[in-house]
Amino acid sequence: MSLRQASTWAGAGRRIHMQEVGTRDGLQMESAFVPTEEKISLIDALSAAGLAKIEATAFVSPQAIPALRDAEVVLRGIERAPGVVYTCLVPNVRGAERAIDANADELNLVMSCSETHNLANLRMTRAQSFSALLEVMALARQAGVPVNVSLSCVFGCPMEGEVDPQAVFDWSLRFAEAGARGITLCDTTGMAFPTQVAGIVRGFRERFPSLEATLHFHNTRGMGLANVLASIDAGADRFDASLGGLGGCPYAPGASGNVCTEEIVHALQLMDFDTGCDLPALIDCAARLPGLVGHDIPSQIVKAGQRLDLHVPPADFATWRDRALAREQAAASH
Ligand code: COA
Ligand code: ZN
Repeated sequence: MSLRQASTWAGAGRRIHMQEVGTRDGLQMESAFVPTEEKISLIDALSAAGLAKIEATAFVSPQAIPALRDAEVVLRGIERAPGVVYTCLVPNVRGAERAIDANADELNLVMSCSETHNLANLRMTRAQSFSALLEVMALARQAGVPVNVSLSCVFGCPMEGEVDPQAVFDWSLRFAEAGARGITLCDTTGMAFPTQVAGIVRGFRERFPSLEATLHFHNTRGMGLANVLASIDAGADRFDASLGGLGGCPYAPGASGNVCTEEIVHALQLMDFDTGCDLPALIDCAARLPGLVGHDIPSQIVKAGQRLDLHVPPADFATWRDRALAREQAAASH
């Protein structure tokens, strides 16, 4: 038996859908404005790298998120690769009209499971958000555009603390009944931990077996990959991740990067999961980021390379090896 097969995490070719959010969740935090043509070129390169879905941009208020003020131009400018779903974050009816007009494949609506975080991020109570989002969903239905709902703070709120999983299931049910095709369970500020994740993913899948379920983790406390593996073990097969590990919600104190796309793909491929991704292509995309955002990126894979990217031994290696072998021989002949 090989070491890989001995693992309880063996993927055995199981399909895992990777969804890139770097061009939305990643860039929304950046103070540098990434030029529109660079965003388009990056998304086109990501489209060729085998991702299932790309959150290309957000149709939000340009005053609130200036980094994404070019949403229309980006979404109209990219090349649509067959099989890739191009989704966009939409906070309200105004955003939905803009996204539908620019031909989004899917609208990604946001609401928080935490009242405080919802007020801080969206300036509405959860009940107000829900009724506003019902209007957005009606508009999307008329236009024939599917809707995904991203629920923030599912695994904890940086201002309120614990979030009751029952509240998560209740809001999910209301959105499912209103016609959402998918729900994303978001760990907005990296508060999730593996045993908690396993319980919530199992509970969610039991209640909503036919909904498209995505897990969205941030690596704020170093538990990102562990949470992905715990989710897979509990039956999940869709993950948001961000190229280079960029990302974070500007309205959540202590927020930091999403789980890093190339790190997750690298790990899952080693474990024989089928991510559909071209890892070297993803790494090339990530390597562009420091030049675009003007700072170093969290990605360990861009820094360290893949597991079997080998290094040449040091220059004086042959000398030390020969001396060591000579000593070994001398000792053996005594
Ligand atoms: N697209 C473009 N402009 C928008 C917009 C949208 N989707 N939603 C609101 N606006 C504009 C309004 O036209 C108005 O502009 P004006 O001042 O020039 O007239 C301004 O934003 C304020 O609009 P208002 O309806 O009063 O909304 P608000 O100020 O309460 O903003 C949000 C609410 C949530 C729409 C806005 O704060 C926002 O887009 N935030 C971003 C949230 C986000 O992306 N968070 C991170 C991801 S979870
Ligand atoms: Zn996020």
